[in-house]
Amino acid sequence: MKHTAKANVNIALVKYWGKKDIEWNLPLTSSLSLTLDAFYTETTVAYDPKLTQDQLFIDDVEITGGEFLRVSKYMDKVRKLYNIPYYAVIHSYNFVPKKAGLASSSSAFAALAYAATKAYNLELDKKELSSLARLGSGSASRSIYEGLAVWHEGSDHLTSYAEHLTNMDDLALIVCLIDESPKKVNSTEAMNRLNDYPDLKELWVLSTKDAFNDMKDAIIENDFERIGGIAESHASLMHYIIQETGVSYLTDASFKVMDLTEKIRNEGIPVYYTMDAGANVKILTKKKYV
Ligand code: DP6
Repeated sequence: MKHTAKANVNIALVKYWGKKDIEWNLPLTSSLSLTLDAFYTETTVAYDPKLTQDQLFIDDVEITGGEFLRVSKYMDKVRKLYNIPYYAVIHSYNFVPKKAGLASSSSAFAALAYAATKAYNLELDKKELSSLARLGSGSASRSIYEGLAVWHEGSDHLTSYAEHLTNMDDLALIVCLIDESPKKVNSTEAMNRLNDYPDLKELWVLSTKDAFNDMKDAIIENDFERIGGIAESHASLMHYIIQETGVSYLTDASFKVMDLTEKIRNEGIPVYYTMDAGANVKILTKKKYV
């Protein structure tokens, strides 16, 4: 009743921001991401009939408080869905360069979903595993796959899952480390604010649907400039929306890196920026330009 699983971090090129169902973690829109081959989480789940509650260790440190509660509530959902009668000891290790600002719930909940079901001898197919990972963290639904993945918004638990789209092996992502401090407002709390702003929400949903369709076309056509352009303007829109709901993640240093990226691009090198719920800027390019 023990299993170790590994999942990699992913970065969205068309972002997930906002939920239509908080309890089941269903997103407002579909999204599309690139899974990074270098950064991952490895998690072992060991069920033990003698335990009276879960235990969580991250990088060998026992975790209590809010972070523990999030994981044990997630394990309660897994137990309920699959009739698992036991609590577990969970050991999780993050193989992300320290301070890279990438420690991510995407790889964490994807690895946990896989380990938690395999440890009980359950063989979920990738779609169902993706739905299960989504219950822990939306972005985790996409970390079940390598390369490019799409997360279909769906309308209930089993129709909201991610699928592998394709691999584009010459893509590269550079992480510009700007800020190592924990976020002031976590992404779940920040994105839920969108529900209080109906006009903004409508703008975001319509624009994201367009960006998602355009991005899929650009990927099919293998048009890197278009892929980068869509990712960049979509990330900027997300940060405008976030700002309008009273949260700001980007700092002066983020804007400097964004300006520099545009400058380098104007000199003929294909580089495009994207940012998530933090100040760090990720630059999408092709391997030969890294
Ligand atoms: C900006 O997946 O962390 O990275 O589902 O509430 O856990 P929860 O949110 P989370 O949000 C990720 C937001 C994002 C964009 C993305 O990865 O699509």
